[in-house]
Amino acid sequence: MNNLHPIHDSLVSRQEKENLLAQRGMVFWFTGLSGSGKSTIATAFQRTLYEYGYVVEVLDGDNIRTGLNNNLSFTEADRAENIRRIAEVAKLFCQNGIITICSFISPTIAMREQARNIIGPDDFIEVFVDTPFEICEQRDVKGLYARARKGEIKGFTGIDSPFEAPDHAEIRITTVDTQIKDAVAKLMLTIQTRITRINK
Ligand code: ADX
Repeated sequence: MNNLHPIHDSLVSRQEKENLLAQRGMVFWFTGLSGSGKSTIATAFQRTLYEYGYVVEVLDGDNIRTGLNNNLSFTEADRAENIRRIAEVAKLFCQNGIITICSFISPTIAMREQARNIIGPDDFIEVFVDTPFEICEQRDVKGLYARARKGEIKGFTGIDSPFEAPDHAEIRITTVDTQIKDAVAKLMLTIQTRITRINK
């Protein structure tokens, strides 16, 4: 049986991949209401990281739900499955050394705890994009709050479906009084304190 080659002998380790990329994989998990500014901040954060030379991927609700998760609705069970799959995908990216920004309402504490457990607490940074419900509804960037109020969308987060705000997120960003560049600066600080090894 000396022609067997266990695959772990030839696998490239996370450490080796991180050395190649000269960065440490981690997941920033953005949670907040629809229209809170998650995607805007995630996009700006990605751009800044890229400009500093980091390899970074954004996973976003509207994108993932048109592809990988296009068979899922907005019932509590489907939202939980949405978050579970995304956490598994984020874990793969993270274990390959890639900084991964996940931007999902992820409305319950239990869903976010599951994501934290799947990804592993050392690699998981919860970011609460804290915009009051009234402001999100006023902004109504996608016109969805108006449609939900008319009863055209059932189970809309904040209207007839719950959102449980985190009470101990690692990072909290209030968007009413914070400019995007300041939000990004706050996030960049975490990168600098958590990734000590690299010279970027
Ligand atoms: S989550 O609750 O499962 O985490 P996710 O972040 O993937 O949600 O998707 C949220 C996006 O889907 C919203 O920004 C909005 O554009 C759209 N959407 C459609 N229907 C709903 C709904 N019932 N509740 C919340 N968002 C919805």
